[in-house]
This record gives sequence, structure tokens and C-alpha cells, in this order.
Amino acid sequence: TLAGAGLAAAGCGAFPESAGRLLTSRLPLPAPFTVPLPIPPLARPVAPGRYEVTQRTAKVEIIPGTTTEIWGYDATFPGPTFELRRGDPTTIRVRNELPEPTSTHLHGGVNPPGSDGYPTDLVVPRGHSAHPHGGHPSHPGMRLNPVAKDYHYPLDQRAATLWYHDHRMDFTAPQVWRGLAGLALVRDEEEDALPLPRGERELPLLICDRAFEEDGSFRYPRAHDPHYMAGVEGDVILVNGAPWPVAEVSATRHRLRLLNASNARRYRLRLAPGGRFTQIGSDAGLLAAPVAHEVIPISPGERYDVVVDFSAYPVGSAVTLTDELAGDVMRFVVTRRAADDSAVPAVLSRPPERTRAVAMRAFDFRRTGDAGNAAWTINGRPYRPGAPLARPRLGTAEMWRLTSDFHHPVHLHLAHFQVLARGGRPPSATDAGWKDTVDVRPYEVVDVLARFDGHRGRYMIHCHNLEHEDMAMMADFDVV
Ligand code: C2O
Ligand code: CU
Repeated sequence: TLAGAGLAAAGCGAFPESAGRLLTSRLPLPAPFTVPLPIPPLARPVAPGRYEVTQRTAKVEIIPGTTTEIWGYDATFPGPTFELRRGDPTTIRVRNELPEPTSTHLHGGVNPPGSDGYPTDLVVPRGHSAHPHGGHPSHPGMRLNPVAKDYHYPLDQRAATLWYHDHRMDFTAPQVWRGLAGLALVRDEEEDALPLPRGERELPLLICDRAFEEDGSFRYPRAHDPHYMAGVEGDVILVNGAPWPVAEVSATRHRLRLLNASNARRYRLRLAPGGRFTQIGSDAGLLAAPVAHEVIPISPGERYDVVVDFSAYPVGSAVTLTDELAGDVMRFVVTRRAADDSAVPAVLSRPPERTRAVAMRAFDFRRTGDAGNAAWTINGRPYRPGAPLARPRLGTAEMWRLTSDFHHPVHLHLAHFQVLARGGRPPSATDAGWKDTVDVRPYEVVDVLARFDGHRGRYMIHCHNLEHEDMAMMADFDVV
């Protein structure tokens, strides 16, 4: 199958549309569109600008009739949604009651380096021996925070769909697979002033795939299994933690905040029986003007903020969100007419202008070594904490040229970027806006203009295929 072809196909110069290797579930699966779409709970502040969340295991019902143990922020999967505001600095205390250390990264956040979820800045649960001599390797810059850590977010950034997830060095993929991910929405006045759909007509859709064992537990290979070097995919598509769910909607405009939170699976989303997505935002905030798409390619880590107008479909019809490879994702059922005073204005926002690049650097994402000791590398190097590949200057912009041997969704911490060119051509329509993650397809050259604003310190560039990330496709850069 395409899904299993993985690296072999990439090596032949083919373009495998799927990036990982498929794991199939060993229990009966529900029929699609039978489970209602859940909406993750909103996180409640304990005081203005202060939240506390606890990472815990829990047993939840994902596949009807069975229970699955998850690792969740506040014991939920996805974790609670944080509603944050630009200009309201926020502190989130993350307490770890899991069996293993964690590090939490607010993806898309302009975070100070000490709160960025650096892979060796770990929150260590009580009784865990994650000290350098406790059988865990020591790394330069390693920090062990006992039991809890306060993450400080200045939120000096535009309204955008952010998300948070585990980022522990070498173990991000299995820990996110167990459930350590959720959404964080930053809002601001520029967005408030727009007549976009809101309230129950604004749906966050965190999409990810999983596989299940007979007993209902998540199925996942052992960490760093070279057989799964391409990445791990599951045969069940979850939206907000529910398998192929269904949502009832009125025949009005709805804002869908699409996030691909999968480890390795890429999607090409469409509406069946046809229809358009009006894209209003990218990873890092609202676009200057809406862009219509029939297909949305979304790689792990990316977000698309879109509006779908369900008044285009007769009442009673089913509108299915599909993926070209996986097939069904979820379904909307248009149940009734309703008044709609929302609109998608022709001018949405004034995103920051591009500035001239003061430097150009190249980052090559490639597999090295042979079967026995293969690794995913950047510029030939497997990840080494504390050995930065670049030192961009605060307040400047640089052109970074990204090249690859496979599908690599490349993510930068701190810096937002615009795609300047893809494959020697102008960017695709779906590359519009400021982003923090971009899919670099096999043997493709992608040029981005990245701005290094906000904070000095240590950040990272890495592949957001989480198995690639854990197999060392990551590098530090220092903003100086
Ligand atoms: Cu969402 Cu460093 O990752
Ligand atoms: Cu990759």
C-alpha cells in the first residue's frame, strides 16, 4: 500500500502521499459518523492570567464500548482549550503526575526560552529518577523541574490558533500519541472587530490518527523502532478525540479551526459532495484577505482557519470532510435554516509586512546512515542539544532554504515565516500568510522568510513528523 511504502518509495523518487507506516487496530471499530463530535472543555483560570493543569492518566471511552488509557492534560484528550488574549500575559503551571518526565511546548507561541518547552527542560514526576545518574543521559542545558513548572507566556502576538503538546527529547511521539496535546486560541481586538462566525459556529477541529489494541489501549510500536522510521500512522481518524464523528450544524457559515495533530499522517481535506473552504487564517494568524480552496493539504503541526458556508447545502444533507487517502474524517449534517449575520470581509487584517532578509541559510532534512544506524538529520547532524546550527539576530529577518529527501513538515519555534518559493515557483495558494510549520515535500526546495522577534535565547527547528523528531531531526538555533 502507499501507506506502507514509506521510505522505499521516497528513495525511488516517487511522492508517497502518506508519510508514515500504517498500524491497524485489533478491535471492532464503530461505523463512521455515529459518535457525536466532542468539543474540548475550556480551561478555567485559577486567577486572572493564571492556570494550573495536571498531566494524569485516565481511562476514557474513545471507541464506543471499550476504554482507553490516555495521558492527558487534566486527564482529557484532547487537553482543555485555552482561550488567551493578546497583551494579557499568562502563566500556566503544569504539574506532572504521569509515569514519565514531560516538557510542554506552546506551538506557535512567541515564548521566552525558559518557557518554550525545550526538550531537556523537563518536569519530572515525584519519585522518578530522571537525574543524570539515574539511567537517563545527561545533556547540556538539561533542567529537571520537580513535579511542576510555571510556563510564562507574554502573548505579545496576533490572534491565532495555537496548540500545545509534549516535547520531551526522544519521547515526543509516544507521549503525544498517548494524548498530550490540546488547543490554545489567542484572540485580539483586530479579530473581535470582524463579523466572523462565533460561539457555537466556531469549531476547533483537532485531527489525529490512532490505532488500538484488542483491549482498547492505544497501539504503538516500541520507541525508535527502525521499522517505523518513516513515522507511525493509525487506521482510526479522530476529531477532538472521537472516531469519524458527526456534528449537526445549521445552514449558516461556520468557522473551522483545523489542526493536524497527527504524529506523521498528512491530509488533503475536501468537502463531499463538493464545496469550498474559505481560508481566513494560517498558523500564525489572520490572512490579509480570504483565499478559497477546494483542497487543503495539512501536514503535522499546521493549522488552517477556514469558513464553510453550510447554506450552500439543502437542509437534511450530509457534508463529509474527507481525506484523499484516509477517506472519511468527519461529517456535518445540516439540520435547519437559521439567521446568519456573519460575513467574511474582503479585508481581514493587516499582518506584519515582510522585511528584507539580512542572511540566507540552508537546512537540509535527510536520512543518513544505513539500516543499522540510520538517523534523520539536519545538515547531516542528528540532534544535539546545546549545539546551535544558526545564530540569527533579534529583530531581523533571514531567508532559510529548506530541502529534503522525504515529506518533512518543518517547524520553527519562536519565529514566524512566510513561504517565498516552493520548488522554484511562487508559493501555493495554501502557503499564504505567516506560518510556523511548512510541509517540505520530497526533493523540493522551500524558501521561507523568517522573522526573529520577541526574545533572545535558544530555540529549535525540527521536523514535525514526531517519529522523525524523536529520531533526531531537530536542531537548536540561538537568537542573539
Ligand atoms: Cu509543535 Cu517543536 O513543536
Ligand atoms: Cu521529517
